[in-house]
Amino acid sequence: MAPSAVEVETPVVPDISALKLQALSGPYKELAATKFDADAEAGLKGHKAAKHPAYLPTWDRNEKYAPLEPFEHTEHGKDADLSFPNLLPQGVASVVDLTPTIGTEVRGVQLSTLSNAGKNELARFVAQRKVVAFRDQDFAELSIEKALEYGSYFGRHHIHPTSGAPAGFPEIHVVHRGAGDDSVDRYFANRTSSVAWHSDVSYEQQPPGTTFLYILDKPETGGDTLFVDAVEAYNRLSPAFQQRLHGLKATHSAVEQANASLSRGGIKRREPVINEHPIIRTHPATGEKAIYVNPQFTRDIVGLKKEESDAILKFLYDHLGFGGDFQARVKWQEGTVVVWDNRVTQHSALVDWKNGQRRHLARITPQAERPFETPFEG
Ligand SMILES: [Fe+2]
Repeated sequence: MAPSAVEVETPVVPDISALKLQALSGPYKELAATKFDADAEAGLKGHKAAKHPAYLPTWDRNEKYAPLEPFEHTEHGKDADLSFPNLLPQGVASVVDLTPTIGTEVRGVQLSTLSNAGKNELARFVAQRKVVAFRDQDFAELSIEKALEYGSYFGRHHIHPTSGAPAGFPEIHVVHRGAGDDSVDRYFANRTSSVAWHSDVSYEQQPPGTTFLYILDKPETGGDTLFVDAVEAYNRLSPAFQQRLHGLKATHSAVEQANASLSRGGIKRREPVINEHPIIRTHPATGEKAIYVNPQFTRDIVGLKKEESDAILKFLYDHLGFGGDFQARVKWQEGTVVVWDNRVTQHSALVDWKNGQRRHLARITPQAERPFETPFEG
């Protein structure tokens, strides 16, 4: 049986860079679900059957892909009508902000019916609000083909190098903790928290932008997702420190994640990559600047000595992680589609339920532009 995947990326191999990162970032993710139990997913062994079996994860060891090629990203958020008449029609959409800077809950609109103008507004609204929970959606009821066709408007689909995917649809990143999975007990025998902040696959040369995650099966309670506003985190820094960060780049590595997958008997669809990105990146539609380093994938600040790099990264990780006053917590409900902008946020799953109930989600992950920075403005 192949191991399952969780939405947090999970490098677990204790190699040198992992140990270094552990020292840096405190909680270090080792929470990959243990195994996929087909009987439990089928409704045997006293468990409820998976509600969306077409989305159950599979792992094909023979599936190998060439390195990703650069592509030209179109940022549709630039073309949006900023009054959002198609996405949030007055009198139809209910829009409630979760916090002043990050997080909005929307009801009354159906994402699957949006015109291209509405999709442009979606990209921009999500860039501005960082993460938006759309309730009562029919997304999980669409065919997988339709869901992917929808997502392709926002960028080239990312195929994850190690995660499980529905048979025949490697573009879907499946998040799955199966019914009866008790790996959480072993995890908490040695760890105090399951929080692991990250921006998805930041090691790619063109990491994701507008990103969709929709719920298929959920525990009665628990398994919420945390988000942090990396723009507000940047804005909270002193001008002197902001200025110091500008012009610096950091390395982001896929190596540990690939090693971890192989060590669990999992797959490696592509050879892992290491890319350098600016520590402060600018959003192409809003022009906002965001901190773009995360403890899962970032390794070193280019050109600094180890102690200097470690100190600055640790400060930034602590700043993002402790910033409860620029974070939002999304509670999943049946029919929820969460859309976030991976360029200006980080997130963490929470593995806080212990009753063995299934948690199953699907992610559509369009890639965006190569991260760039614009000059410090004071
Ligand atoms: Fe993630």
